Amino acid sequence: MCGIFGYIGPRDPVPVIMGGLKSLEYRGYDSAGIAIVHDQKLQVRRSSGKLKNLEELLASEPLSGEFGLGHTRWATHGRPTEENAHPHRDCHGRIVVAHNGIIENYLALKRKLSEEGHKFTTETDTEVIAHLIEKHFDGNLENAVVKTLADLKGLYAFTCICVDDPQKIVAVREGNPLIVGAVDGEGFVASDIPAMLPYTRSILFLDDHEVAVVARNGIRLLDTAGNSRQPHFQHIAWDPIMAEKGGYKHFMLKEIYEQPVAIENTILGRFSLDANTVHLEDVAFTDDIWRSFKNIRILACGTSWHAALAGKYMIESLARLPVEVDYASEYRYRNPVVLPETLFIFITQSGETLDTIAAQRQVRDQGKTLTITNVVGSMTTRVADAVLYTRAGPEIGVASTKAFTTQLACLYLIALHLAELHKTLTEPQIRKALTDLTELPNKIERILDRAKHVEDISKSLFRQHDFLFLARGIHFPIALEGALKLKELSYIHAEGYPAGEMKHGPNALIDENLPVVFLAAYDRESDASHQRYEKVLNNIKEVKSRDGIILALGNEGDSDLSESADHFIEVSPTNEFLLPILEVIPLQLLAYYCAVRRGCDIDQPRNLAKSVTVE
Ligand code: G6P
Repeated sequence: MCGIFGYIGPRDPVPVIMGGLKSLEYRGYDSAGIAIVHDQKLQVRRSSGKLKNLEELLASEPLSGEFGLGHTRWATHGRPTEENAHPHRDCHGRIVVAHNGIIENYLALKRKLSEEGHKFTTETDTEVIAHLIEKHFDGNLENAVVKTLADLKGLYAFTCICVDDPQKIVAVREGNPLIVGAVDGEGFVASDIPAMLPYTRSILFLDDHEVAVVARNGIRLLDTAGNSRQPHFQHIAWDPIMAEKGGYKHFMLKEIYEQPVAIENTILGRFSLDANTVHLEDVAFTDDIWRSFKNIRILACGTSWHAALAGKYMIESLARLPVEVDYASEYRYRNPVVLPETLFIFITQSGETLDTIAAQRQVRDQGKTLTITNVVGSMTTRVADAVLYTRAGPEIGVASTKAFTTQLACLYLIALHLAELHKTLTEPQIRKALTDLTELPNKIERILDRAKHVEDISKSLFRQHDFLFLARGIHFPIALEGALKLKELSYIHAEGYPAGEMKHGPNALIDENLPVVFLAAYDRESDASHQRYEKVLNNIKEVKSRDGIILALGNEGDSDLSESADHFIEVSPTNEFLLPILEVIPLQLLAYYCAVRRGCDIDQPRNLAKSVTVE
């Protein structure tokens, strides 16, 4: 949700800021703007649409100067026009603000400021911040910002500059992410890590109620009363190259192909085959704490919610603990009954999704919290009692891929760890389950080697208007995820449904124009899995007899399935709880290739953003 980048230092600030915005564009791409200070004057360029429009504007109306800030917007208040593009100014153009979030009381503030004589020129909530800073300014920008914070309600992060107190950028976080970096006479502010990686991997994650003053001679940190605080920098292991496309046409495709390595990294050192045991030593729970949990509640949004749903099947089946799954955005607005000895698990790639963090804060006094996240230092890690990192590396494509499969791997490890502690699986069963896990990266490689086949299938399906994705058991969350990928990338309407529920409604949709994707891989060593498969085969026949177009995913060499289907995609069999990780990969590829053929914007689908920090 909106990307902010600020720079102060000896380099030409324009290319540095534009480079920063480029790596933050996945956060929002409705409009963009930049403000540069030159000779005690603020110059601003803004344009609607993607960053390339701003680049073109800068080519015809160039800027130069000493330092500045930029913004790429995901519109909330005010249409995505040039006037509403950030940065926003005060009455005299002496102060500029770039903001990510929502000022909830902006209408009341705007009314009051207008009565006091302030002139507003945009529809945005952000503009009130610039006018409030103007009102409180007495020669020191950070003092004016501290006073402004007392007036604001909502969740936000912003950076600002004032030419009357120059040579500094002031940055504030209140709910939404903002990070700061400093190296040898240079200072940076950004909304997310990838933008900072070309300059430094030593990063200060601003906390709520913190104000950073970023200058050439370093960073000062204040609380909202204006008292100094000690900054604590964290080292980020991500390499700058990891946040580049590396020869792939799109980040999403690169991230799909990174999945074997991402899974390998995520499971590395977290189990021992010799001892038939899972080590989750980086999770700050003792075995006694793990054993004390009598039930589990998993909360997440979007794709992470689909991982949560698959996690329920894993934990309930393997560790025999009851699990409930909720959308974090829904959980907050009901009055749930929380049983004693509940473990709350949060799943969030970014670690910053507002609804997930809000739910996390809400349950803090009701049980222990464990978060599964991909981003070191993100807000979720600071609110949780314990953290289990997916080690997927930076995920830039808006549609989540490698974060999802590594989340599933983490949930599988948690399920096995609990099974071990509760003795619901025998040692040989745990050994087998872990061996299956080690084989997963190679099995993913095999699927990726056959990507061309999925691309060929997409040629005959990409013009369809609707898709159904059907599955049973732990495969149902993958049906939901396959449908979501297709929707968000190719704008084709798609629904995921439990295959057994077709007769209660979706059957009415079936005709010769409806592709129905069936997830029918099964565990050859499990009777239950085979029974599920047979039921899915019956569902396939039902769709076929109504002329639907069948795309089936199943075990390598399954001739019953391939003969029943119009299109068949093979995956190498594994155990029931790991099959989802394999099945989702062809579905990611299917959505990708359909979207490419439809000419859609793969890494930045319309109306979406990677990190959703508004409600
Ligand atoms: C956005 C992204 C999705 C993601 C969801 C939750 O909608 O586009 O890919 O699944 O947010 O994000 P999180 O970072 O909490 O996993």
